[in-house]
Amino acid sequence: MKKLRIIVLCGGQSAEHSVSLVSARTVLSNIDPKRYCPQLVYIDRKGFWRRSRCEFLTDHVGASEKVLLANSRPTAPSEVLATADAVFPVLHGPLGEDGTVQGLLELAGLPYVGCGVLGSALGMDKEVSKRLCIHAGLPILPYTVVRHPEHAAPLARRLGLPLFVKPARMGSSVGISKVMESAELMPAVNEAFRYDDKIVLEKGVASPREIECAVLGDPWAKQGDPLELKASICGEIEANAEFYTYAAKYLDSEGAKLKVPAEIPEKTAKMVRELALKAFRVLDGYGMARADFLMDRRNGAVWFNELNTIPGFTSISMYPRLWTESGVDTPALISRLIKLALRRARAHARLKTAP
Ligand SMILES: Nc1ncnc2c1ncn2[C@@H]1O[C@H](COP(=O)(O)OP(=O)(O)O)[C@@H](O)[C@H]1O
Ligand SMILES: [Mg+2]
Repeated sequence: MKKLRIIVLCGGQSAEHSVSLVSARTVLSNIDPKRYCPQLVYIDRKGFWRRSRCEFLTDHVGASEKVLLANSRPTAPSEVLATADAVFPVLHGPLGEDGTVQGLLELAGLPYVGCGVLGSALGMDKEVSKRLCIHAGLPILPYTVVRHPEHAAPLARRLGLPLFVKPARMGSSVGISKVMESAELMPAVNEAFRYDDKIVLEKGVASPREIECAVLGDPWAKQGDPLELKASICGEIEANAEFYTYAAKYLDSEGAKLKVPAEIPEKTAKMVRELALKAFRVLDGYGMARADFLMDRRNGAVWFNELNTIPGFTSISMYPRLWTESGVDTPALISRLIKLALRRARAHARLKTAP
């Protein structure tokens, strides 16, 4: 059997550039070499595409980037895409996880891992995703969308304190503030507007537990299909900060502790898994996503927070860890994701494009 050429696309222009490099390294070192021939394509911080040698991606984040820059040669996206059987985008955040790269891959007619254009865009947009989830009856915290800073104060009053102010389409907690008293509102609003022209104000859970669940599969597969949609066991993030901030996520090695499985009642875990599958379907997920929840420590109430369509894939990340602990090791996980990509592309290729 001919090996499939898989482009691992990493880097990108978001705040999660370096995390993406570490995630890509996990994919490269776990992809089944008997079935796949991986090729690394690095998108630098300015957005230029570069073809790079896989073996040079080191363990150390800063070093990884230097090595990639030094050992890569600039390439046109079209040249890269012409030679691939499928693409594995390991890009986090805007211009990678938000449907833009997925749109490019659709135009190129290439199979790719993960959610499609719409699912990716919905996962990134905290406002539209909440609207759809409410419509579907998922538990969502009270929120409001703000388009102009001067509208924020009256809208915030209705939500009470504490509240969270977030750019609508970001990630990694970039631009997010927790507002404890009213004097903190406008600085938080102005900060969020630096990243997006649409922001979300959301009722805060005082000291939440953060529960996450991984989803994998084809939402339209029949029962018993090996690629059938599945939810993993649940995990918990214990942030060592006021909330799960950018620093706690990436800068501080002691910033957060992962607990797998989450120590929550079996009944709650079952409910979270069901909500994760439901959110995945409602937001047009395909292939993979990590569904994140906030749980009120006092009464156990659970709120769906967001769907991450390209979750962290580092060796210590929650998504691969949840699957390992659910019986799917990382090489099997990667193979399954590539099979899902090829299946969707085959199904789309059969569709008529004109009457
Ligand atoms: N309504 C909320 N109540 C309590 N904590 C929150 C709330 N919203 C967000 N947080 C905290 O902020 C973090 C980042 O918010 P999130 O909506 O997940 O944005 P991002 O897409 O940047 O990860 C969460 O992991 C959590 O720690
Ligand atoms: Mg989050």
